[in-house]
Amino acid sequence: MKNPTQLHQTVLLTELVEAMNLKPGDIAIDCTVGAGGHTERILGKVREGGQVIGVDRDKAALKIASSRLEQHLATGTLKLEMAPFSALDEIVKRHNIEGKVQAICADIGVSSMHLDDSERGFSFQDDGPLDMRMDQSGERTAADLIAEEDEETLIRIFREYGEEPKAKQIARRILQVRETTPIVTTRQLADLVKAAAAYPTVSRKHPATRVFQALRIAVNDELGELKALLDSAFAALKPGGRLVIISFHSLEDRIVKQKFVDYTGKNKRESIPRDLPIVASSIDRLIAAKADIIKPFPAVPTQAEIDLNPRARSAKMRVLAKL
Ligand SMILES: C[S@@+](CC[C@H](N)C(=O)[O-])C[C@H]1O[C@@H](n2cnc3c(N)ncnc32)[C@H](O)[C@@H]1O
Repeated sequence: MKNPTQLHQTVLLTELVEAMNLKPGDIAIDCTVGAGGHTERILGKVREGGQVIGVDRDKAALKIASSRLEQHLATGTLKLEMAPFSALDEIVKRHNIEGKVQAICADIGVSSMHLDDSERGFSFQDDGPLDMRMDQSGERTAADLIAEEDEETLIRIFREYGEEPKAKQIARRILQVRETTPIVTTRQLADLVKAAAAYPTVSRKHPATRVFQALRIAVNDELGELKALLDSAFAALKPGGRLVIISFHSLEDRIVKQKFVDYTGKNKRESIPRDLPIVASSIDRLIAAKADIIKPFPAVPTQAEIDLNPRARSAKMRVLAKL
């Protein structure tokens, strides 16, 4: 088996771990263990007196991380959980760490292990089954979705999750083709999209890129999962604790940014009419801010990191501190 660092290159490694502001003895949760790159560095910060819970919904990723972090599992400093973000509440309760966690991080989306393994169906570089499930015990594959959803739903998925301008033409073509031929491989779908979209484009992007992103988000309910994570992570943190999220596209980053602003109470303040006869100190009491945004703009990888790992280019990291 390859070395985990060859399977997935960790993005914003130093930046994420610094933002978690950990010291020996702290409790931390890494919600996206993947190949264990961030987790390993986090373990180095909390040391043996600390505790790290590592979560991932992908069994194959956890297997790789388990062998990389074997010694930390043996000492009990690390506990791994195969679960989705939406189970975080239950995990925190089971470990009895509600309100005690110094930092929670997530480096969301797919890993290179997903993209590079054609059998997982996330990419169309090589042909493979149209699967795209991060948790392979999940019920619906991308092929199921393509076979079962009606035209309106397919259009909505391609528009909302892929921002695909030719969503209608692509959905129509899918409905025509599936009447006679099941669409079950990545190459079949990529060729179909290319023919249906027929862009006169100079872009280096394959015309199917947006459709593949949209399907992946739908199959794994990625935006719903992210919202569930942002809700339950906050309750688990102790005062002064940090929530650090790396996202890879604007749909996710928008959700993170909005939720972080909500926690600061800033939106509530702006919704109060300016001419209301109420003194500033009463407004402050009405809108108790629960958090501070550490930097107004997200951190992004340096050009040197992008040169080494082009997949890092769209990463954005946001950091929140609980008050
Ligand atoms: C970009 S990788 C993380 C890589 C990791 N930070 C490292 O350094 O190796 C994202 C991981 O998050 C997992 N993941 C994505 N969405 C998830 C969700 N909703 N629940 C649990 N795990 C999820 C994926 O299975 C994948 O292994």
